[in-house]
Amino acid sequence: MEIDVALVPSEKRESHPEDPVNIPFGTIFTDHMFTMEYSKGSWHDPKIRPYHPLALDPAALVLHYGQGIFEGMKAYRRGDHVYLFRPEKNVERLNASARRLVMPEVDEQFVLHAIKKLVSIERDWIPQERGTSLYIRPTMIATEARLGVKPASQFLFYIILSPVGPYFKNGFKPVKVYVSDKYIRAVRGGVGSAKTIGNYAASLLGTQEANELGYSQVLWLDAIEYKYIEECGTMNVFVKFKDELATTPLDGAILPGITRDSVIHLARDLGIPVTERKISIDEVIEGIQDGSVEEIFGTGTAAIVAPIGELYYKGKAYTVANGTVGDLAARLYDTLTGLQAGEVPDKYGWVVEVE
Ligand SMILES: Cc1ncc(COP(=O)(O)O)c(C=O)c1O
Repeated sequence: MEIDVALVPSEKRESHPEDPVNIPFGTIFTDHMFTMEYSKGSWHDPKIRPYHPLALDPAALVLHYGQGIFEGMKAYRRGDHVYLFRPEKNVERLNASARRLVMPEVDEQFVLHAIKKLVSIERDWIPQERGTSLYIRPTMIATEARLGVKPASQFLFYIILSPVGPYFKNGFKPVKVYVSDKYIRAVRGGVGSAKTIGNYAASLLGTQEANELGYSQVLWLDAIEYKYIEECGTMNVFVKFKDELATTPLDGAILPGITRDSVIHLARDLGIPVTERKISIDEVIEGIQDGSVEEIFGTGTAAIVAPIGELYYKGKAYTVANGTVGDLAARLYDTLTGLQAGEVPDKYGWVVEVE
């Protein structure tokens, strides 16, 4: 398929943010977007057009039954070079989400091409300051107008772009996390491993209550026993014990994070044994108290690595690593951000340059 491109005349384009370091996440969008439609069993009409509102029938299935999925990835710019980080993994995961939500898969090579083409058109929007990037949001929604609960037969796939500032605006500092023993995010057999819109709605109330108590994220426990740690906000979670880096296994309730996978590779290459196993909250609390837990951190596209300095659980706050940034978290953060910016030699073949 050929992408039909119609660009905004240069004098009508939006001005770029003057202070990219302080842009609130996801509030500014670039001049263009990619769209492609699905009907009668196939994807068609791929286009790049000026950024525009969507016209949706009020009965569109996504609005009623949540048949919607998305991805989150970033483009990084250094000088004339623009890089994507393992973008094929995001497109693979989009298709995995599509299968779980009974939505049509996309041609992965074609969607990668569309992402690169759109990013290339918008390359001047990509800020250059350390920690800044262009956030890429591929999205698929069910557009068929129908009130019966059933998989739709018509869909829209689109990609929008948003320049974003660094996650850590005031330096790389640990975050404070609230362990929820009241709400859960997802359950095995449900849709926790898909990047689908309802999972994020399900997380709002618990996160709001945690925020009101001064915690920036919720650490979610498993939905069956409320015993094992699963994910932290929109991040996967790692616990560094003395001789082991442990992370929750991909058992269907958590999102298979691309940063998680990258951290597992990097840590193993550093000679650190990594285990994917159930980690109980009791084991974590005891480990914090007896010193066997050295670090806890989250991983995800937004923060890359977020050290956790405090855990609040059942009415009590526990300080992790004396509330400082752990050595391993700092090392992984530097390596990953260095790779993404094209500054650290990429022996993994993870970094893809956009022409
Ligand atoms: C629920 C959830 N878990 C984990 C992650 C981390 O995934 P990734 O490393 O691919 O960004 C994300 C972010 O995309 C997320 O939304």
